[in-house]
Formats: sequence, structure tokens, C-alpha cells
Amino acid sequence: MKRGNVRAGVRWRAAIVAAAAYAAAGWLLADEGAQAGAPATDPVRRGEYIVKGMGCGDCHTPYKMGANGPEPDLTRMLSGHPEGMKLPPAPPPSGPWMASVAATMTAWAGPWGVSYTANLTPDPETGLGRWTEQQFVDTLRSGRHLGRGREILPPMPWPAIRNMTDEDLKAIFAYLRTIPAVTNRVPDPLPPADATK
Ligand code: HEC
Repeated sequence: MKRGNVRAGVRWRAAIVAAAAYAAAGWLLADEGAQAGAPATDPVRRGEYIVKGMGCGDCHTPYKMGANGPEPDLTRMLSGHPEGMKLPPAPPPSGPWMASVAATMTAWAGPWGVSYTANLTPDPETGLGRWTEQQFVDTLRSGRHLGRGREILPPMPWPAIRNMTDEDLKAIFAYLRTIPAVTNRVPDPLPPADATK
């Protein structure tokens, strides 16, 4: 196979994993509370509606074990993979089982290596506090960090999110500006060669 084909194959598989993981996350885990109607005018309320409806928190809010099973740790809402949580090597892929996820739902291993969900809170040092609205929109449209950096890894569903209007992406950003800032430095992703050792 040519290099390009291999790359395309990895991308294709990654897209499937992202879609499956996204669906599984919504199905497996408790919802964060439904809102009545779809607010259209106030960007912050609309952003909250979109973030909750699209389940950003299923991956970006760490899950903890509660009395009735896993539940989102709302003291760390949307703050990404907890920095203090060190993980052992991921299990190697076996047969059709291609990816694995930590119990927090914030660390994902697969053909892309290991990815850790980002801190979306307004903390200036470790979250999106210094991002501009334009950088946020460019990131989700291009699938690249700040619109021009490294490619964003699965299972971040940017290939789906990129289809939203500018207005909706800006509303998401407006809402994320209003949530409590959590200082949490998410680790850099691991390349495939380092994922299982
Ligand atoms: C299925 C899990 C999942 C869902 C759902 C999800 N994300 Fe992510 N997201 C990730 C992962 C994993 C990363 C880190 C990827 C990486 O390091 O390349 C990430 C990274 C990001 C980043 C950081 C990109 C960067 O360049 O630093 C932003 C912004 C983001 N997500 C926003 C969102 C928003 C907004 C939603 C909901 C509309 C959402 N995510 C839903 C998994 C998810």
C-alpha cells in the first residue's frame, strides 16, 4: 500500500472510532439535564443548550464513580482529563477491538496513540482563557489546534461539529466563557508507538 493509502486508512478508521465512541458515550452515560426549547437569541443560553445537547461533557467532563454508577464530576465540569491521573499503558488492540477508554472517559487509546480531552474552561493558563472567538471557530472548522497547528485527534468529533454555523460555534464559545474556570493542565497526546508501553 502506498503511504497515502495507509494514511487515508488510518483517517477512515479514526472517523469510525470517533463516530462510534461519540454514540457510545451518549448511550452509556447519564445525561446532564435537558433544557426546554432551543434558545435562539441569547448566545450564552444557546451555547449551553448546544453543549449539553451535543454531549461535549461526555468526554470533556471527567466521570467518577457515584452511588448509582459513573456520573460526571461537576466540580471539574468541562475541564478535560485530570492532570493528576497517571494511567498505565493502554491495552494493545486485539482483533476487531481497536480502541479503549479510561473510566473517566477523558483518555482514549487507539491507532492514533493516546488522546486526552482538553480543558474547555476559561482558565487562562490551562484552559481556553486566552483563546479568541475566531481561534475557537477556526479550530472546530479546520480540525487543527487554533486553526493552523497540529491535527486534532479522535475521538474529538470535529468532523461533525465543523458543519455547524458560525453563529452556533460562537454561541458555544460564549457559553464556555461563563463556566467556572478550573486549573487543570491536560497532558500532551502520546504517539502510537508510546501508547501501549
Ligand atoms: C467523543 C469524545 C468527545 C466529544 C463528545 C467532544 N470532544 Fe472535544 N476533544 C476530545 C478529545 C479526545 C480532544 C483532544 C484531542 C487532541 O488532543 O488532539 C478534544 C479536544 C477539543 C478541543 C481542543 C482543541 C485544541 O486544539 O486544543 C476543543 C476546543 C474541543 N474539544 C471542543 C469540544 C466541544 C465544543 C464539544 C461539543 C460540541 C466537544 N469537544 C465534544 C473529545 C471529545
